[in-house]
Amino acid sequence: MPNDDAGYPGFLFRSGAVRGTCDDPGLRGCAILGSLKPGSATTFRGRVLAPDATERTLTLIDDALLQLDDSGRFTSVGPAPPECAVEETWPGAVILPGFVDAHVHYPQTRVLGSASGPLLPWLQSTVFPEEARFAEADYALAVAEEFCEALIAQGTTLAAIYSSSHPSATDTLLATLDRRGLRGVTGVTLMDRGAPQNVLREAQEALTANAELHERWHERDGRLQLSVIPRFAISCSAALMRGAAEQAREHALLVQTHISENLDEITATAALFPDSGDYLAVYEDHGLASPRLVLAHCVHLTDDEWQRVANNDIAVAHCPDSNFFLGSGSMPLRRALDLGIRVGLGSDVGAGRTFSMRRVAAAAYDASLVVGEIVGPEELLWLATRGGAQALGQGEALGCLAPGFDADLSVVDVAGGLDKSALLDALTFRHDAGPVRATLVRGQVLKTLAGNVR
Ligand code: GUN
Ligand code: FE
Repeated sequence: MPNDDAGYPGFLFRSGAVRGTCDDPGLRGCAILGSLKPGSATTFRGRVLAPDATERTLTLIDDALLQLDDSGRFTSVGPAPPECAVEETWPGAVILPGFVDAHVHYPQTRVLGSASGPLLPWLQSTVFPEEARFAEADYALAVAEEFCEALIAQGTTLAAIYSSSHPSATDTLLATLDRRGLRGVTGVTLMDRGAPQNVLREAQEALTANAELHERWHERDGRLQLSVIPRFAISCSAALMRGAAEQAREHALLVQTHISENLDEITATAALFPDSGDYLAVYEDHGLASPRLVLAHCVHLTDDEWQRVANNDIAVAHCPDSNFFLGSGSMPLRRALDLGIRVGLGSDVGAGRTFSMRRVAAAAYDASLVVGEIVGPEELLWLATRGGAQALGQGEALGCLAPGFDADLSVVDVAGGLDKSALLDALTFRHDAGPVRATLVRGQVLKTLAGNVR
């Protein structure tokens, strides 16, 4: 049903929805879609930034009414009618879709900000010793809680997460995501060489463990997914990568890995795989290239590699803050977008220094400027929400504030009276000014550890 009320895009409105005037005094003047009660969890009112489904734009609705069904899906989103009596749900805040972190490492939560880069020495001196600690159940659980708390505190509702190589810690992570009400795409981090023995796991054993976790958790409550995660070529044998590709194909799972982050990494990879023409070819040659592959970093891809990423509809996780912290370089974001590649933003904690996808968006702005491109706040906030959902293959249900989509929200305090441009700037660049007030998955506010609703 094309909307002619206020010039907003038609997709914001449920087609065929019956709209009318409510007899309930509390809802007088409001559109009616099912039985709604003022202040109930199924109706929100406030200032909304709604991503377009395909264009990298956001529509600002200054006073919107968002209506949800019992399963936490939007039934209608649009301007509140005149004289609508529903109270503003979060006064002074702006409502966006939940942020999507397209690349983050759970077992690096406690080494965030450890300045021992660049990449390869940092992995050896900081990351691998820390990840070894996840053999211990109590440690894995404590950090899983901290990790989920950090996601909720920053308004992130979905994350593509590298676990450690330990099946038990990965099971703990999944259980914690489940209990905290978050969405996650995760699996054991597969590595059978190129690191200390205490973080390696033999290929078949690791894949079997991941398959067992898949049996147990995949599609749990529609929020959790198992993923296949060969860490990067340096830490994976050919047999492990082939087995990973096979498991991903069999169950249609998301595959995550790193590529072309650092020049020494690229040199080492070429030495290990002399028969592959370039870094991307290593993954292609072992069956890993497909639209279900998400490549993190892509800082130093060649023209030909970029073209193959586009041709094969491979997704990219852009991790600009991490790239700054490890001195890796700047990914040419505009170029990737111009090639039509699906791009999400990744915090890449713990090489990234923040769980805030708004800070990551700000870093992406800086990183693009460094390579002579401008990618502004509107596009970046789109990438941090809708773009991430698409990159992770969840664009059907997530990333839009529109009928039929799941009501995953981040609600951010922001100064009043700003026009759209100033609002986008404030959300992206003024981090001190506006904390996340609430984080919701399917219309449910996620609790912080203290049990408080933010
Ligand atoms: N490449 C392989 N492993 C990692 C990791 O944990 N972090 C980053 N930034 N790059 C990697
Ligand atoms: Fe990473």
